Amino acid sequence: MQTENKTYISELKDNIDKSVTLSGWLYRSRPGGKVLFLILRDGTGLCQCVVEKDKISDDLFEELKHLGTESSLTITGTVRADERSVGGHELAVTDARILCESQDYPITPKEHGVDFLLKHRHLHLRSQRQWCIGRVRHTVIDAIRRFFNDNGFILIDTPIFTTIAGEGEQTLFEIDYFGRQLHLTQTGQLYLESAVMSFGKVYCFGPTFRAEKSKTRRHLTEFWMVEPEVAYIDLAGLLELAENFVTFIIQQTLEKNRSELESLGADIDSLEKIIPPFNRLTYTQAVDILTSEKTATFMAQQLSDLNNRKTEVQNHIADLEKQQAGGGKKWKLEKIVKELIQLRSDLTELEIKIENNPKHAKLAAEFQWGKDLGGSDETIISLMHDKPVFVTHYPKKAKAFYMRIDRSNDKVVENFDMLAPAGFGEIIGGSAREDDYDTLLEKINHEGYDPASYQWYLDLRKYGSVPHGGFGLGVERTVAWLTGEKHIRQCIAFPRMMDKVYI
Ligand code: 4AD
Ligand code: MG
Repeated sequence: MQTENKTYISELKDNIDKSVTLSGWLYRSRPGGKVLFLILRDGTGLCQCVVEKDKISDDLFEELKHLGTESSLTITGTVRADERSVGGHELAVTDARILCESQDYPITPKEHGVDFLLKHRHLHLRSQRQWCIGRVRHTVIDAIRRFFNDNGFILIDTPIFTTIAGEGEQTLFEIDYFGRQLHLTQTGQLYLESAVMSFGKVYCFGPTFRAEKSKTRRHLTEFWMVEPEVAYIDLAGLLELAENFVTFIIQQTLEKNRSELESLGADIDSLEKIIPPFNRLTYTQAVDILTSEKTATFMAQQLSDLNNRKTEVQNHIADLEKQQAGGGKKWKLEKIVKELIQLRSDLTELEIKIENNPKHAKLAAEFQWGKDLGGSDETIISLMHDKPVFVTHYPKKAKAFYMRIDRSNDKVVENFDMLAPAGFGEIIGGSAREDDYDTLLEKINHEGYDPASYQWYLDLRKYGSVPHGGFGLGVERTVAWLTGEKHIRQCIAFPRMMDKVYI
């Protein structure tokens, strides 16, 4: 294979009128009598390759004509600029070499169920949607590292086998470690609190494990979280850090992945408008909003909008089904099928929202001060905003033991969640940490934890304790929010959920 002569589709713009060889896979083909249109993908993009019958041998033309989806091949031809073509260029084919014919590729343009696609994730990763999401995820991760590295944070690799619980014992994965019981990490935070007293500003970034029993679209059992921790910082300082951080991630993604965001149907206009300062609410203000008349009216209006949208989608589906029954060219019919798949998924989504709306409105109206905000409460608050919202000062009893008690109101802690706007919900959780030895010991006892296991953590409050704090941002939730993807399982290559682990 002549790798040295290989050109990537992303490089075509620099090769107009030149002869190049592309190496990739057959994404789609549209055969004609005298001319074939092959869409090749090579990992960097798509390119339409035009094969004219009289430019190549009859045998090769026949072979290419019957080549199955996802066959691997190299194609040589002359690059032409063509605005109408996918990617803005096309290739006038002069030669091709087939490497591996793929017959009966299991994923077809027709509709496949969620389980089918998860079982075929090893192949589904090649779909345009997965490709776009994977590239956005790459940018998000790069932006995360860049932000902290450029702002003086030191990376600390915290352990995956841990001795103590950070986020409650209900979601611990226990493992037998040579006869001793350890857990898979739920958070690197407690270890970061040790490291921050050495380095001043630190972060950890890695996989995190939670035995989540909830099968929601926002929960995985294995997800990636980045956690910064800073010494000598208060809650206000943490909010500023978090909003600058998220703004940087958004800007990098808009800069590097605009075309991916466009093809995913992400709300680019709204993302562009997100700049600091973000909205700030206390938990108590959030509860007042949830239980207000304004929210009841807002929810009723949402319901009516959802019903209107449902009628529109139903009409659109009926219209396309009529066109489909009328028949036509294969590529036209395939386009209709694709649109129908999207519309039917939108319809299911709308029906779920319509069914949930009255339940969520009731939960909000009856919300009692003291409970943690539920997913639906977060959704309501975030639907009312077009920029991210910080909710701060939650009741102490609803939150983790390490959060610092507010010295001006000991019923609440100095914590925050950042809710992404437009109904997406929590992407960050963080807090100032309890820095007083006795108060922390009391909370550890109150949780029923064994203080002996937490002695090293308590020591940090004994030898030069300082105000400090940090937060954790979930990568999959962030990617789902930016791309407009409904379920976070689509935002990691090989997702793990309570009831679904296939490959
Ligand atoms: O709010 P959480 O539980 O906070 C912590 O773990 C703190 N120790 C962080 C810190 O202060 N250093 O989790 C932080 C974020 C959430 O906002 C969410 O984005 C993500 O991690 N997350 C999950 N993502 C996917 N699946 C799950 N089961 C998640 N649980 C949390
Ligand atoms: Mg949280």
